[in-house]
Amino acid sequence: MRKVYRSRCYSKKSDPPRAGDQRFVEHRPVLLEEAVDGLNVKKDGFYVDATFGRGGHAKAILEKLSSKGRLLIFDKDERAIDVARSMEDKRILIEQGSFNRLEEVVKEQGMQGRVDGVLADLGVSSPQLDEALRGFSFMQDGPLDMRMDQTQEETAESWLAEVSEAELARVLKEYGEERYAKRIARRIVEARGSAPISTTSRLATLVKEATPRFDEHKHPATRTFQAIRIAVNNELKDLEDLLDQSARVLAVGGRLAVISFHSLEDRIVKRFMEKNSKKWVPAEIPLKSEELKAPFKSFPKIKASREEVLSNPRARSSMLRIMERVA
Ligand SMILES: C[S@@+](CC[C@H](N)C(=O)[O-])C[C@H]1O[C@@H](n2cnc3c(N)ncnc32)[C@H](O)[C@@H]1O
Repeated sequence: MRKVYRSRCYSKKSDPPRAGDQRFVEHRPVLLEEAVDGLNVKKDGFYVDATFGRGGHAKAILEKLSSKGRLLIFDKDERAIDVARSMEDKRILIEQGSFNRLEEVVKEQGMQGRVDGVLADLGVSSPQLDEALRGFSFMQDGPLDMRMDQTQEETAESWLAEVSEAELARVLKEYGEERYAKRIARRIVEARGSAPISTTSRLATLVKEATPRFDEHKHPATRTFQAIRIAVNNELKDLEDLLDQSARVLAVGGRLAVISFHSLEDRIVKRFMEKNSKKWVPAEIPLKSEELKAPFKSFPKIKASREEVLSNPRARSSMLRIMERVA
């Protein structure tokens, strides 16, 4: 293994934390024990946390690693990267940017086919959602931004200003599973003709106006915000790339653990793991011949416990799926 303690991207030290600094706002990791146990961490191993966030899972992995172990972390968000840098842990290799560069970075480290585990805890972190200025939430008014990577040019506002009505309706339907996708798209396109849609509250109001019926317990803009966020951040394509690349970088015995938060993501992960795996079955049930040839085995899916959901509502829709390279 090549000795690289710091990412080539980072030479400057992180600024010290300031009061109210969003970089240091807490994110409560979901399915923490289940995911880290599921990786079956070897103390001298090479691991990847593809979605560092505030480092909840990363810290739990590091606790199991010796001084020879390494953890390569990715995040698109500079604030997450600042937190990783502030840990000043020589075992961490830091990469700012999309995890769709996993294979490239692993090759640079000379670790192709030798990675012991990849973890991805998908979606946005609590600090991203909670900060009005990031524009991810209809709960607070802010600029319609929604970029995980703030160096990216396209924001939700610029995307909404340009997208065609038909494409917008498709995105709302496919990524938000929104029943009133066409009506909402029509209302947005009408409204942007008079003034740009530049705040989260204006978008939330437009969606509410276009929605004839909705459940009182769920804001009618929930699905629209999810769909636009997925489109602006290219989330599903990134996920597909991550799955393909993880399968290629893992060593025999290496594991991929993915936590998803909505059915769209989970469907992609489930199909990928099913396609590549022998199913986990009790030892007494014989496998079919094509299942015997599969390079991976997958484990039963894991949901958050009732206790975890009660103490952390973000865990409600979470799903953990794990597979292991066997050949
Ligand atoms: C749910 S949070 C992860 C929380 C983390 N496990 C923890 O315990 O603190 C997801 C993080 O992944 C990042 N992210 C999402 N998609 C990404 C991608 N394609 N590439 C890199 N980072 C991504 C987000 O910016 C966010 O910080």
